[in-house]
Amino acid sequence: MKAHQSPRMADPLTKFAYLGLQGGRSLMGLAHKEVSTRLLQWVAPTAAPLTVPVPPEMLKELRAAMERLLEQDWQEAEAGIYPASLLFDAPWLDWAARYPLVWLDMPLTWNRRARRQVRDLPQDVEPEAFPDYYLQNFHHQTDGYLSDHSAALYDLQVDILFNGAADPMRRRLLKPLVQGLAAFKERPASSLRVLDIAAGTGRTLRQIRGALPQGHLVGLDLSAAYLRQANSWLSQLPGELPQLVQGNAEAMPFADASMQAATCVFLMHELPAAARANVLCEAFRVLEPGGVFVLADSVQLADSPQYTVAMENFRRVFHEPYYRDYISDDIEARLTQTGFLEIRAETHFMSRVWTARKPF
Ligand SMILES: C[S@@+](CC[C@H](N)C(=O)[O-])C[C@H]1O[C@@H](n2cnc3c(N)ncnc32)[C@H](O)[C@@H]1O
Repeated sequence: MKAHQSPRMADPLTKFAYLGLQGGRSLMGLAHKEVSTRLLQWVAPTAAPLTVPVPPEMLKELRAAMERLLEQDWQEAEAGIYPASLLFDAPWLDWAARYPLVWLDMPLTWNRRARRQVRDLPQDVEPEAFPDYYLQNFHHQTDGYLSDHSAALYDLQVDILFNGAADPMRRRLLKPLVQGLAAFKERPASSLRVLDIAAGTGRTLRQIRGALPQGHLVGLDLSAAYLRQANSWLSQLPGELPQLVQGNAEAMPFADASMQAATCVFLMHELPAAARANVLCEAFRVLEPGGVFVLADSVQLADSPQYTVAMENFRRVFHEPYYRDYISDDIEARLTQTGFLEIRAETHFMSRVWTARKPF
């Protein structure tokens, strides 16, 4: 039996339950967006962003891509890359309790968007502690990334944004990560250090813990509030608690060659091009030769031109100042320039996943 395979996996009912759950999450995300958009058009029509209508063929293609994503998610759990329990894992009670706060927060978001206030941050933030590009309300988020209130709502908001597919998208890292770490298979699993760059509230670390129950996990993020939330959720898991470090991914507080793997999810599109290059250089520096880097972010114009309208709408609805530059950026070329080899890329639903190796 493979590492995470359980007899329960053979049960077609488990797959049925998983697809049913995801169907419910998807409906919930769609319904939330439909109702909130109508409400906004009714109460504050001038605050409504100008979006481009999504053509029916694109909706069909998106539905098919979501089905492929979920099928692959199921298959990789069945193959033992991670346990099936991960497919059902979410802080459901917390999310249910926090959902009303998402609605209460919405008028603030609309107001900020209507007034084009993109630097509306808590008074006690010390600007010199952060790079200037970071001091913004990404997604028009209340407090940007800089409060416990923002951290409490973030995961739920992302889950709604991706119609319940955020975690299946994050899990596409796991297979290349596990395969990449095979380069160190002679070493004990507990000696392998895996760094998640821009770990946020820890959802990616939680997926990685499922696939690597013995690995030494490290999460880096600039937001103390997001790391506090990560700590509270990750400390509920059995096994070693991931080490959470506050710091800038452009100048990571880790020694050269100290990690065997690094991951990075949904960060690149929030960085100016120069910062993107710095983060890739830092990922390269902290990896041991032979180490694997797995990067996931939005699809781009070159690999998914059929989703151009969705990318354009995303930029119009959310405050994402670097997204337009990101979707035209050649990440493969950047990885090559940084020194990585064996670069591969795959598209899953609305995300692109790059895998690369630091040469031995
Ligand atoms: C869109 S969130 C992604 C979080 C997480 N990876 C996930 O999968 O949900 C972006 C994260 O990047 C962090 N971040 C942005 N710029 C950063 C930087 N220069 N260094 C470290 N973290 C950064 C933010 O604080 C935030 O937690």
